[in-house]
Amino acid sequence: MPTGPEDTEVGAADSSTEALPEPEDAVEVPGAEAEATAGRPAPEEAVTAEADAGPDGTATARPDFPQASPEPAPSPDAVLVQRTMAEVAPIADKVTSYFYALLFTRHPDLRALFPAAMDTQRDRLLTALLTAAEHIDETDVLVDYLRNLGRGHRKYGTQAEHYPAVGECLIGALSRYAGAVWDDDTEAAWVRTYTTISQVMIDAAAEDELRAPAWWYAEVVAHDLRTPDIAVITVRPDQPYPFLAGQYTSLETPWWPRIWRHYSFASAPRSDGLLSFHVKAIPAGWVSNALVHHARPGDVLRLGPPSGSMTVDHSTDSGLLCLGGGTGIAPIKALVEDVAEHGRRRPVEVFYGARTNHDLYDIDTMLRLQRTHPWLAVRPVVDTRAQLPDAVREYGPWNEYDAYLSGPPGMIRSGVDALREVGIPAGRIRHDSVEELVSAGG
Ligand SMILES: Cc1cc2nc3c(=O)[nH]c(=O)nc-3n(C[C@H](O)[C@H](O)[C@H](O)COP(=O)(O)OP(=O)(O)OC[C@H]3O[C@@H](n4cnc5c(N)ncnc54)[C@H](O)[C@@H]3O)c2cc1C
Ligand code: HEM
Repeated sequence: MPTGPEDTEVGAADSSTEALPEPEDAVEVPGAEAEATAGRPAPEEAVTAEADAGPDGTATARPDFPQASPEPAPSPDAVLVQRTMAEVAPIADKVTSYFYALLFTRHPDLRALFPAAMDTQRDRLLTALLTAAEHIDETDVLVDYLRNLGRGHRKYGTQAEHYPAVGECLIGALSRYAGAVWDDDTEAAWVRTYTTISQVMIDAAAEDELRAPAWWYAEVVAHDLRTPDIAVITVRPDQPYPFLAGQYTSLETPWWPRIWRHYSFASAPRSDGLLSFHVKAIPAGWVSNALVHHARPGDVLRLGPPSGSMTVDHSTDSGLLCLGGGTGIAPIKALVEDVAEHGRRRPVEVFYGARTNHDLYDIDTMLRLQRTHPWLAVRPVVDTRAQLPDAVREYGPWNEYDAYLSGPPGMIRSGVDALREVGIPAGRIRHDSVEELVSAGG
């Protein structure tokens, strides 16, 4: 079994492109059409339907890479990779279409790993790949990100031998669209870069295989509709599911096979092993509507591995300043439970934002926690996302606090700005990737 992209037949890329459709024809991903038009409204409609989440439907999922400063001179490979990136950036959509057309034409067996409809998120694989290649010199950050990605790819059914196929098609697409700057040195730089990236993912997946399943089945055991569009869903995984409070998982429903979405754990790990999620149905949203309006006890979901670094540092006694907007209160509640379980008294201040009183669907639980724990203060903030940071500025001082933010991307951005203004250093502010949230629209 090949173990890495050293098998990538970069030489074969050019010769077989002749048989492929012209790039313009390739925009429709093979097999995507049927489900994409299966009588449901276009997902994009939801962007305007719920504008306060601030999604930018056109944004792509670029992983969060902290900027290294001062930046060291890029390696020769990075220079060539970045030159290619600059060349293809204005036509990224064409490169993506052509990449998938190459992949599914040359390796039709791989089509079954991908969702039937690949309209909304199809650029994520390629964007991440290109972004990782661009940051190939920032080893530490990149390795953590790629190891997590490699582990997460097990749930798609990705095998080590699939990586060379993807690498070959990546290089096939780049050589076609970056023709003006493409030469042997550039190709060699891409082969080395892709080999490095994919080997990290392959190794992480192989290590993970020794200790964890590729995915977990989880049976819905409770479904509680808190508002017409928010449900609290409790599931029982088929085997122990280890995670930390503040993390999230990826979830697939039986109604939309191979379509995975992220949901935060709404509780710290429980002794009965049950997991819970707070899900808000987004207008025209595939997975969220299935979970809120169709899922019932007895239905079986699939979960990917846990992810996310918005976790409590139990080695310090700093206070926790938590901002939760909408269903973003779910992981914040998990953090509060985590602090309570560790038994160390440290101040926890929760600002819980929502548009209306009615949308504060979990305020009773939060107030109950406040009554139980004297170190906890919960402050509901009703109205637009702009007011949550304003409310935080009114209290404080916050210089002895670590900050945690969860909610719509607009709230996280304005929240981070407000927290930096009141003196909390960036290193003490934790939140999930804004880029992923933007691309998800959530
Ligand atoms: C780290 C992380 C944790 C998350 N945790 C939770 C959670 O605990 N609970 C929860 O309910 N969601 C959570 N989400 C969002 C979730 O992953 C999905 O994006 C959301 O449920 C929509 O998925 P969908 O399949 O229903 O919609 P899709 O079919 O993906 O989206 C349909 C359309 O709606 C747009 N859209 C998506 N979300 C919104 C929105 N909020 N407002 C307006 N337009 C939108 C999309 O851009 C798309 O055009 C989280 C996301 C991330 C990245
Ligand atoms: C270095 C190589 C690769 C990188 C950087 C990469 C990156 C990504 C990213 C960022 C996503 C978005 C969802 C997520 O975060 O899991 C994704 C999705 C996916 N990837 Fe990869 N990937 C790589 C290789 C592969 C390979 C070899 C396969 C197998 C054929 C594969 C199959 C998939 C599938 C099936 C999805 C889900 C697509 C979807 O939900 O629309 N990837 N990939």
